[in-house]
Order: sequence, then C-alpha cells, then structure tokens
Amino acid sequence: MNIKQRRTIRKYTQQPVSDELLNRLIGEASRTQTMGNLQLYSVVVTRKAEMKEKLAPAHFLQPMVTQAPVVLTVCADFRRTTDWCTLRDATPGFDNPLSFLNAATDALLFCQTFCCLAEEEGLGLCFLGTTIYQPQAIIDALGLPELVFPVATLTVGWPAEKPKQTDRLPLQAIMHEETYSPFTPERIDACYKKRESLAVNKHFVEINDKQTLAQVFTDIRYTKKDNEAMSEGLLAALSRQRFMRQEGFPGGVVPSVVERRPEVLECDVVRFQNKKEKWVAFVGLLDGLPYEIFTGLQDDEEGIAIPKSVSKGFIIKHFDRNGQKRYDFQFVNKRGYKTTIEGLSERFNPEYWDYAKLISGVLRYRMPIDHVVRLITSLQLENDTINSWTTGVARVLKKYLPDAQQTVEEEEENS
Ligand SMILES: Cc1cc2nc3c(=O)[nH]c(=O)nc-3n(C[C@H](O)[C@H](O)[C@H](O)COP(=O)(O)O)c2cc1C
Repeated sequence: MNIKQRRTIRKYTQQPVSDELLNRLIGEASRTQTMGNLQLYSVVVTRKAEMKEKLAPAHFLQPMVTQAPVVLTVCADFRRTTDWCTLRDATPGFDNPLSFLNAATDALLFCQTFCCLAEEEGLGLCFLGTTIYQPQAIIDALGLPELVFPVATLTVGWPAEKPKQTDRLPLQAIMHEETYSPFTPERIDACYKKRESLAVNKHFVEINDKQTLAQVFTDIRYTKKDNEAMSEGLLAALSRQRFMRQEGFPGGVVPSVVERRPEVLECDVVRFQNKKEKWVAFVGLLDGLPYEIFTGLQDDEEGIAIPKSVSKGFIIKHFDRNGQKRYDFQFVNKRGYKTTIEGLSERFNPEYWDYAKLISGVLRYRMPIDHVVRLITSLQLENDTINSWTTGVARVLKKYLPDAQQTVEEEEENS
C-alpha cells in the first residue's frame, strides 16, 4: 500500500500471517539505520492465544491484542550487546538513560521500517502506545531481562476493515525554515481550523460535553493525572530494568520517588549509641532504601523496649477513629507471633522527632545517601546531645551506602 493510502487497521481476518512472510519482513526491516550498527532492539513475536490474553490487560484490553493473528512487542535492547561485550573482554557501560534512549531510537526506527514494509505487503497494523503505559506488566508477561525495555507493540493481520483515512495538520504545523518559528494565536488557528471543523471532531466534543477539541485531549484522553501516575510506573520500570544507573545509589539504580507513603513499610531496627545512652532507629525502607527514620531512647519504662534479637519489622501508618495519624512498629518473633508497638511518635522527644521528620523528607525524595549523610554531619546544632544524636543517625544511614560493609553495631564496637 502506498503511504498516501495508509491507515491504521484494528480488525483482522482469520487468515494467518505465515512465519515465512513475518521472518522475511523482520529481516528486511533490520536494514534500517541503527546506532553503531549495533541493532539495539529485539522483537518478541506473540502468536499463542494464552500469551495474548496475558498481554491484553497491559494494553487496557484493547480488542486488537487478542484478535490479531500476530502481536509484536518491539523492545529497546542493550542486553545482547552488553553480554557480547562482557564475553569479549570489553567493559560495557550501557546501564544508563542515554543508552536507553539510543536503544529506544533504534527500536522505533526498526518498528517503523517494519510497518512500512508490512503495509506495502497488504498487511494491516495498529501501533499500541499503551506499551509504555504499564511496561512492568509487559516485562513480566514476556520475561524481559534487565536492559530490555518494551517501547512499541504492533498488532498485525490481514485487514478486515477499510476505515476512512484520518486527517493531518497542514505542513506549516510541523515545518520550520532555518529556525523554529513560534506559534502565534493566528498560526495555531491556521493549523487547527480544518481539524476543529470536521464533523467527526465536533461530534466528539459534543458527546464528551466539552467546549473545545483540545479539552477532549487534556480532560479525557490524556489527563495530567494519568500521565503523572503512569510516568511514575515508567520510571520505576526503567530503574528495575537497570537503565537508570547513577553513582551514589546502591547497585547504581535511582529509586523512584513515591510521594504518598505506603501504609506499610518494611523496616530495619538499628541500635546506636547517643552519648552514654542506648538508642534505637527504625528505618522505613522502600525498594530496599531508607524512606524515613524514627529514633528514640531504648528504655523499658518510657521509651521503646524490644527484644535484642529483633532487627527487622514493619512501620505501619494508622488512622484512629478521629482521623488522627500515628505510626506503629510491628515485629514477628521467632515463633511467628506478632507484637505491635503503637504510637512510635508518642514515645519520642518532640525535638528529635522534628529533626527526624526533616531527614525523612530528604530521604523520601531520594537524595543519594552519601549526600544525606554529609548533610546530617554538617549540621551545627545548639545542643550537644542533639549533635551527638545526628552523629548516631548519620552512622545508621551509612549502613545503606552502596559500599557499606560494617554494621553500625560492629562499627561502634570497633571504635
Ligand atoms: C505513539 C502511538 C500510540 C498509539 N496508540 C494507540 C493505541 O493504544 N490504540 C490504538 O487503537 N491506536 C493507537 N495508535 C494509532 C493512532 O491512533 C493512529 O495512528 C492515529 O489516530 C492516526 O490514524 P492513522 O494511523 O489511521 O492515520 C497509536 C499511534 C502512535 C504513533
């Protein structure tokens, strides 16, 4: 099919797409340009109904996924290249955002070349952008290893429909001569006038109870809320696939920022010395990294008394009947029984509590731990005991530095 005639096809006949044809098209598409001739992509072919069923929820159950004879998931792939380098005595450094973008560019060029060739052959295709909306679900369904990330999905089959072609904006909307020319209100009018006057779009505005076509996009199809929520998932998945390496984080992986504290956080219990007193820190963890810290005196009477053997537990956010928030600590003893210490906040000196809150704020936004430690140790506070407390807290957090080996207890014993 000539490019001028092309359109997205979302309905397919039952006629199969042969392996021979598919392999030929994939092979030919690999003639596309590629960074350093490295071919930083891979394509997972899905033909089995059960696998399509597994993929469908990640694509918001769009019917093409289960209806099409073939589903292709095109992935940015630095895994193969990295393995090759490692086996050939070369040290790869491709676990970073730049390499992801390079691999994603390669993958999308390959994908588009395949589309052109397949459409020329008479096949019908639909590009699914939902691939990057819930990438973790696709990674899990297809068993994608680290350094492989899904960037595009194509549903492929012989067309069972011939929808009307969609419109396009005029050339002046996408083209600039020499330098970028700004979009004045008049130019925006000229670019969008025809589109906004189409009966199909007017109908769209009406049935969605909106005033303008643009509002259909901002308020319904691609909302800020959805974009932000899915961006969070995207960044978390990129981290898990190890494309977000940065010095200063354990394993070099930048953890995602989760602003809304989960109800339950795993926690480490770390004992430390503050002047002559024995103190305890509860370090709430998210993705294995400190997310918040509570500290207090170890004391049977007023403070916190927990068995010596307890080094892990959970910090649970709890709302009482009046909507008052508090944090509880829960641990499981050797025989499997749970004990909950209610109201961590009530048990601690408010001044320390406030400093701990500030430190927790910094941790929550994922400042690298070495920076947090430096910040805390640089504090010059009025009170000697609080200064000693900050030293203790810094020592607790050092445990989470990427190259930390000693435990705080060991370090204190040695010092
Ligand atoms: C990044 C991207 C994401 C898309 N996601 C979807 C999708 O999830 N579902 C769908 O039915 N079509 C999807 N499409 C297809 C577009 O809706 C389609 O290309 C556009 O409306 C223009 O229509 P045409 O391809 O028929 O010219 C996507 C296309 C692109 C490039």
